[in-house]
Amino acid sequence: MCGIMGYVGPREAAPILVDGLRRLEYRGYDSAGVAVCDGRHLVVRKAEGKLARLSEMLDVDPVPGSSGIGHTRWATHGAPSDHNAHPHTDPSGEIAVVHNGIIENFLALKEELLAAGATFTSETDSEVLAHLVAQEYDGDLLEATRRAVARAKGAYALVVTSSREPGRIVAVRMISPLVVGLGKGEVFLASDIPAILHHTRDIMVVDNGEIVDVTADGAHLQTIDGRPVQRDLLQITWDAAQAERGGYPHFMLKEIHEQPQAVTETLTGRLLDGEPETVVLDDVHFPPGFARALDRIWVTACGTALHAGLVAKEVFEGLLRVPVEVAYAHELRYRDPLIGPGSLTVAISQSGETADTLAAAYLAKERGSRLLAVTNVVGSTLSRTADDLLYTRAGPEIAVASTKAYMTMLVGEYLLALVLGRERGTLDATAAAALVAGLRTLPRVVEETLAREEDIKALAAGFNGHDHVYFIGRGLDYAVAMEGSLKMKEISYIHSEAMPAGELKHGTLALVTEGTPVVVVLTQTAVYDKTISALQEVKARRAFTVAVAYDDDTEIAKHADRVVRIPRVPDLLAPVPAIVPLQLLAYHVAAARGHDIDQPRNLAKSVTVE
Ligand code: G6P
Repeated sequence: MCGIMGYVGPREAAPILVDGLRRLEYRGYDSAGVAVCDGRHLVVRKAEGKLARLSEMLDVDPVPGSSGIGHTRWATHGAPSDHNAHPHTDPSGEIAVVHNGIIENFLALKEELLAAGATFTSETDSEVLAHLVAQEYDGDLLEATRRAVARAKGAYALVVTSSREPGRIVAVRMISPLVVGLGKGEVFLASDIPAILHHTRDIMVVDNGEIVDVTADGAHLQTIDGRPVQRDLLQITWDAAQAERGGYPHFMLKEIHEQPQAVTETLTGRLLDGEPETVVLDDVHFPPGFARALDRIWVTACGTALHAGLVAKEVFEGLLRVPVEVAYAHELRYRDPLIGPGSLTVAISQSGETADTLAAAYLAKERGSRLLAVTNVVGSTLSRTADDLLYTRAGPEIAVASTKAYMTMLVGEYLLALVLGRERGTLDATAAAALVAGLRTLPRVVEETLAREEDIKALAAGFNGHDHVYFIGRGLDYAVAMEGSLKMKEISYIHSEAMPAGELKHGTLALVTEGTPVVVVLTQTAVYDKTISALQEVKARRAFTVAVAYDDDTEIAKHADRVVRIPRVPDLLAPVPAIVPLQLLAYHVAAARGHDIDQPRNLAKSVTVE
């Protein structure tokens, strides 16, 4: 997983590449580099560490030239270092490549090249691609690249340039994402749209198995075996400023505060005025009788998206009366699951590019399941693989720790439950109308919860001296606890665990000592008393207890050391406001520790390799 960029046009390439890489840093940030062609020579500059190092290097010693390629890396083969940083060149220095993904047969290829006398300067799988293109080169970069990738196996995106053909860039997509931006007399290549959005809104998505030939005059798309491809341009309407920090110290905080707007967007056009029980999802078209005949729903995802899946399980089982399995995609893809034509697989992914989630989705399709994608990224691989589609419309999410994407996934799940429940006949018009009415209140409810940020900030100090934190809850509160705990560990680096409240006494209680912070989520009326018992158990061990509870809960202050309040909503919708204080708590604990919140160590926004 890495970010890749390319530029051909009349302007200086290096600043454009660096600017694009800055917007792609969420994909990886352990080294960065560019290769720029001045019309005769390729000059490579690269450095271990964050992009700022490369940028400083280029300030001191600029590289002139109006075409080039760039890369920000997240290491897979070979540790982060200057020599493993991309771009990689062939021994003559005439061909340079940047690469995102994995070349599975690189060792065999490398041995073959070594036997033929080649020398390598890095431990990466990517460097073999530069050698292969050079080996195949006979004056036409497109053909050389085509022949080179025919020998490589794996999931990747590749961008190639050569000083022998200045002003030409060739790129290939084999699973990993790649887009082309068409400007006036200039063309951009990038791993995703926000990287180039401030240059152009005319985007051509490169599909799997396609190769694109780029010059300043335009981009020509073909299949890898040479058939021309006509692709309609996507007109992107996002506001470029949406992808900027907008005055907040971190993208994460900005994105937390964007949640009311994000929820509004998710709901827009999907709830009908005058028909209070009806939900319209334009890209969801179940065949007649499908919903009624459904025998099982599989939900698959990773990370935060999986936690959204835990909410889906409770919501779908409750409203649809159908068994729901939630499976980590990286587990599901290697299982022999009982997925079949009677089932619906719901794959959830902010990026729509997570390799494991895609693999699980393909498996479900192979087994005859209908595939529904819940994703935030328009045109993502998952979106184009699915039979049905629900875009979450959170807008670009830059912080590695997901917040607004998670919340809109939840909202999307309620919308789906409404559609399926009505079609299945398990949700009557009155119940549906009540749920719709509840959904309409969510932007305001989230706004009100956000207005209490100062209280949560004050609470954060109580967590800072601790090495371990626990989050507990039952049912939907457990799902929220899981996500709250993930947020805490991702950015504060405090060890954090979540578990069902009833499970605590079966082991973890041994770790609770005086002052250990325990966060209890308490929104589910049916199990309220039971969770209070668990709270008492940790109190008895002198834990420091923080409860997330409704405004009108008059009981809780008797039990917990601190109470964080959220507005009253129907219990089913509680995960939406209840996650807000936990996001803010994690944020303020991490901020007090001075961490790099938007780019936590060892993590990346989108894991496009296994
Ligand atoms: C990475 C990110 C997580 C994210 C997960 C799934 O691990 O760091 O924040 O939840 O991938 O990403 P997806 O794009 O599939 O939702």
